[in-house]
Amino acid sequence: MTKFPERVFSGMQPTHSLHLGNYLGAMINWVKMQETHDCIYCVVDMHALTVWQEPEELVSNSRELAAAYIACGVDPERSVIFNQSAVSAHAELAWVFNCVARMGWLSRMTQFKEKAGKDRENASVGLFAYPTLMAADILAYRATHVPVGEDQKQHLELARDIAQKFNNDYSASIAAHGHGEAYFPLPEPFITGPATRVMSLRDGTKKMSKSEASDLSRINMTDDADAIAQKFRKARTDPEPLPSEVEGLKERAEADNLVGIFAALRDTTKADVLAEYGGRGFAEFKPVLAELAVERLSPIAAEMRRLLADPAEIDAVLARGADRAREIAGPIIDEVKDIVGFLRPGH
Ligand code: TYM
Repeated sequence: MTKFPERVFSGMQPTHSLHLGNYLGAMINWVKMQETHDCIYCVVDMHALTVWQEPEELVSNSRELAAAYIACGVDPERSVIFNQSAVSAHAELAWVFNCVARMGWLSRMTQFKEKAGKDRENASVGLFAYPTLMAADILAYRATHVPVGEDQKQHLELARDIAQKFNNDYSASIAAHGHGEAYFPLPEPFITGPATRVMSLRDGTKKMSKSEASDLSRINMTDDADAIAQKFRKARTDPEPLPSEVEGLKERAEADNLVGIFAALRDTTKADVLAEYGGRGFAEFKPVLAELAVERLSPIAAEMRRLLADPAEIDAVLARGADRAREIAGPIIDEVKDIVGFLRPGH
């Protein structure tokens, strides 16, 4: 199998402000991976458009999300930060992948089924094709590692299937153009840590999400200390004290969730947290958790506010990032065009 240089790609939708699920499930790993890899982090505004967005809000949410990336610790000097629509390679490769992926594959995507609901006839075509664009995001850079939360696993598997089918369908052309036996890597999901699936604070069976009606269900990165404390205080739990071992969290979704959040915020494991807090009740645990969350999140919120006071600086970061992204993706798109047989006049 062809060996590909390691490269990280990931993205978030600018549809809302960041919540604790996004932060603990994905962002923490984005920041860490900068130490070891070349990383590309994208504000996926084209994905946001798959459901209606007010144009001015999409602009301000995109800027806000870029500010959140930086405030959380993505370093624009080291990593590439840009918005998806600024780099045409994404749309170009997505079209090719629309012709590689099969209707049946996309019909099985649970996120589409959930988001489209019962009224599928009325869902946008973009919502259906969403995962082919996501595959294009990753593969336009031939990225090998994709740090995401648990809920993106199925989309990542589809991206691998698309890469594999492209490599198979075009194997002769790939070889004829001097690219060996495979043009695209099969990107690996990187889903790791104690909080890869952060659950709603109101219902331990549902994931924490921007679309949940009650704001009490989630911690937003921009929540102030009072809101954070109140939300943890009101978080649903059972009446039992915390167990001393991870085994004891089985069948206790809410307890499991809070312990996972605590462990992720403290950069440790659930086992460690339980070794310290096993036997204590939630009346004792929740305030410590809230304090820890405030300690971790309030500097991020403050930094976001500081960055957003100077939108021109954020735009400059995004413009620079888009230039760097184009430099990487441009030659890859040209090669893909040659492989599939698109005439490039003059080449
Ligand atoms: P999005 O914007 O819904 O979420 C951004 C990231 O946050 C993670 N996440 C969670 N992790 C743990 N617990 C939760 N409750 C939780 N909620 C969200 C998501 O797994 C994700 O990592 N399709 C993607 C965006 C995307 C993308 C890409 C990602 C577009 N192209 C290419 C990676 C590579 C999405 O909608 O994420």
